[in-house]
Amino acid sequence: MALSDKVALVTGAAQGIGKAFSAALLRQGCKVVILDMNAVAGEACKNDLDTEFDSANSLFIACDVGSEEQLKCAFKKQLNHFGSLDILCNNAGINNENNWEQTINVNLTSVIRGTYLALDYMSKQNGGKGGIIVNIASLAGIYPAPHGPVYTATKHGVVGFSRAIAATSKLAGYGVRINTICPAFVDTPLLSSVNSKEMMGNYYIFKDTVQKLIDFYGILDPSLIVQGLMKIIQEEDLNGAVMRITKTKGIHFETYESALIQPELK
Ligand SMILES: NC(=O)c1ccc[n+]([C@@H]2O[C@H](COP(=O)([O-])OP(=O)(O)OC[C@H]3O[C@@H](n4cnc5c(N)ncnc54)[C@H](O)[C@@H]3O)[C@@H](O)[C@H]2O)c1
Repeated sequence: MALSDKVALVTGAAQGIGKAFSAALLRQGCKVVILDMNAVAGEACKNDLDTEFDSANSLFIACDVGSEEQLKCAFKKQLNHFGSLDILCNNAGINNENNWEQTINVNLTSVIRGTYLALDYMSKQNGGKGGIIVNIASLAGIYPAPHGPVYTATKHGVVGFSRAIAATSKLAGYGVRINTICPAFVDTPLLSSVNSKEMMGNYYIFKDTVQKLIDFYGILDPSLIVQGLMKIIQEEDLNGAVMRITKTKGIHFETYESALIQPELK
């Protein structure tokens, strides 16, 4: 897929993985909507990207993805501004076991809502021209994290929802590819949440165990997650794929028993 002049929307894009995604998409010639609830960090991110890229090619929208009203409004704003949407990256996420209801709302509900809003516009069944949706899960979407049962639940939910809706898309002819990225630990501000009593609540007592896990898996640079995103965008046959990114194996894919999925839906 040629990326020049494509329009991408990245949620949670003010910092971390989302900011790295936004910069990489701008570098490829995309127009990018930087969506984040943190207006100060979002504006700072846009200013930062404007030093390298044409400022007309990006737009910052302040939005809490956990709010149905705000998310719908943000999609409208971005369509009014750039006139189209080709790539959605549902990246915003938090790691808060204390306020676990909020974690479900941000990590899972908003991914489902964002996917549906994008499908409304992109689906060929609605007269759209197709597109790509990339949902960011985590290795905790494949393995259980003992220090984060709700984070684990949300990320398993993202993987399951994305695989199912990808199969729906193929079956119904939406013309939209939906894939998931599951990184191990990545060097971003989110990683510090595992050392926060306020965020981890009862699971704070496991912080030494978490450190052992981090030492075991290592910490990835966001640039590797960017490479994974570009692979998913470029490889036209990827739909319903679950990409794993780890220090030892790099970019690779989770395999599932094919008997559980009808061959025509793969
Ligand atoms: N960092 C890691 O180790 C790691 C590993 C695997 C998966 N992930 C996933 O990658 C994604 C990005 O994480 P990151 O590490 O870059 O985190 P980060 O904390 O560095 O950045 C997340 C961004 O999302 C924004 N955000 C949070 N809640 C929001 C909301 N309700 N509405 C809008 N924006 C919101 C934050 O303001 C922030 O700018 C998340 O889904 C996370 O679960 C991270």
